[in-house]
Amino acid sequence: MIDVTQIRRPDDMARITTPALAQAFIDEQIAALRAQIGDRKVLLALSGGVDSSVVAALLIRAIGKQLTCVHVNHGLLRKGEPEQVIQVFRDEMDANLIYVDATDRFLDKLAGVTDPEQKRKIIGNEFIEVFAEEARKLDGVTFLAQGTIWPDILESENGIKAHHNAGGLPDDLQVELVEPVRILFKDEVRAVGSALGLPDGMVNRQPFPGPGLGVRCPGAITRDRLEAVRESDAILREEFAASGLEGKVWQYFTVVPDFKSTGIRDGKRTFDWPVIIRAVNTRDAMSATVEEIPFALMHRLVQRITAEVPGVNRVLYDFTPKPSATIEYE
Ligand code: XMP
Repeated sequence: MIDVTQIRRPDDMARITTPALAQAFIDEQIAALRAQIGDRKVLLALSGGVDSSVVAALLIRAIGKQLTCVHVNHGLLRKGEPEQVIQVFRDEMDANLIYVDATDRFLDKLAGVTDPEQKRKIIGNEFIEVFAEEARKLDGVTFLAQGTIWPDILESENGIKAHHNAGGLPDDLQVELVEPVRILFKDEVRAVGSALGLPDGMVNRQPFPGPGLGVRCPGAITRDRLEAVRESDAILREEFAASGLEGKVWQYFTVVPDFKSTGIRDGKRTFDWPVIIRAVNTRDAMSATVEEIPFALMHRLVQRITAEVPGVNRVLYDFTPKPSATIEYE
């Protein structure tokens, strides 16, 4: 048995910056994966994020249908995300993909919960529960694949953050780990993803937190306010893409806080939520500056969001850097 947790990035490893270097890494990894896995079966939690998507694409190349991907929709994903995962991996790459729509389970558990850390805990635990249930339904899974990357290892060694690994799985699920991108930096994972033919929108995505839109719907999550977050986020992403800001701004999203204010529509009084827009730039997420959005774009965002998102009558822009604010609201 290979203990992948002992594998380290060689000090003299060249940074993967070109398609040729990415291809060399892919060829090497495919051979290593085949040697490690043989004819046995692998399970992967596929979120649709860059790291797990690249791991999935590598494993599909290496072992095809011996891989089963599980995509858990916790109801807190962005608009169009589950559909994209299904289209890319099931339809285009012909992968074994189990899609679990667990929206009701998550939202029922989260109902009335206001504390941010409690919300994170519920989302994390429920995720493991749903994933483990799916794993138990499958026969003879030997391996669990993970999208661990080199900064995760460095950060957990330096005590900055504990990177989430198989430690969280229940004891009855004894699996060996497969971590094919563990020695790569994020930019290298993206280069490998492009060389594997993953769509640009998947490879060059902005960071998206594990608890998803749940931390952008501050306080107790309700389905109607969550929909307002999802719809306004989709409009923001569309308008940023149309304005050439996609891929330029590090992270941008909307938040719908749990309060209402008076407004007017068609001559009648309204009492609706505001949408807060946040767009920040950073190197390492430890500090961040605010993007100076052109005013014309801001006007278009206000016009579209107030016209298209039910329950919203104001749009605000958050001008606060980190510190004093954090990037997310919870
Ligand atoms: P903050 O809000 O702490 O965010 O300034 C820094 C970066 O981390 C992301 N973030 C998270 N990612 N799980 C994640 O996977 C989380 O619970 C979480 N909270 C924040 C945030 O989006 C930003 O990129």
